Amino acid sequence: MAIYPIRVFPDPVLTMPAADVMEFDAALAKLVDDMIETMYDAPGVGLAAPQIGISKRVFVADAGDGPFAMVNPTVVETSGKDKSDEGCLSIPGEYWVIKRPDYARAEGFDIEGNPVTYEGVDLMGRVLQHEIDHLNGRLLLSRLSSRVRNQALKELRGEPASRMNGRR
Ligand code: NI
Repeated sequence: MAIYPIRVFPDPVLTMPAADVMEFDAALAKLVDDMIETMYDAPGVGLAAPQIGISKRVFVADAGDGPFAMVNPTVVETSGKDKSDEGCLSIPGEYWVIKRPDYARAEGFDIEGNPVTYEGVDLMGRVLQHEIDHLNGRLLLSRLSSRVRNQALKELRGEPASRMNGRR
């Protein structure tokens, strides 16, 4: 197994839609093993392949019930509403309150190409949505209101967070 370096914003691989996996082979199984090890090392509750520079539709996650992987997943149903702090290994140290549906169900494949479904509320619902966003080239920043996003982008670029506090 191997631990990969995690790509951070604004690495362009993070905002590119990832390609479907075509081969369910030993290389895919090894990639998933390495991603699980990298996720726990970070530590994080989810990791998508683009976050280690591999633009393929694969993610791993552990929302408390042990690690699992999904290949070529899509969110097929969501419901309810939830508002919770959310962060991302590719935007280290930053957390924002993000509104999302509470429940999500995702369909895809396991590493052998068998159809699998995962679903859940709270953390599980959020992780499924967050990781599949990554595979669609979508970062947390795109889930923020434009005002909060502009402020966040300034901070990430190292510009002064706000001039409001500079009053003398
Ligand atoms: Ni993330």
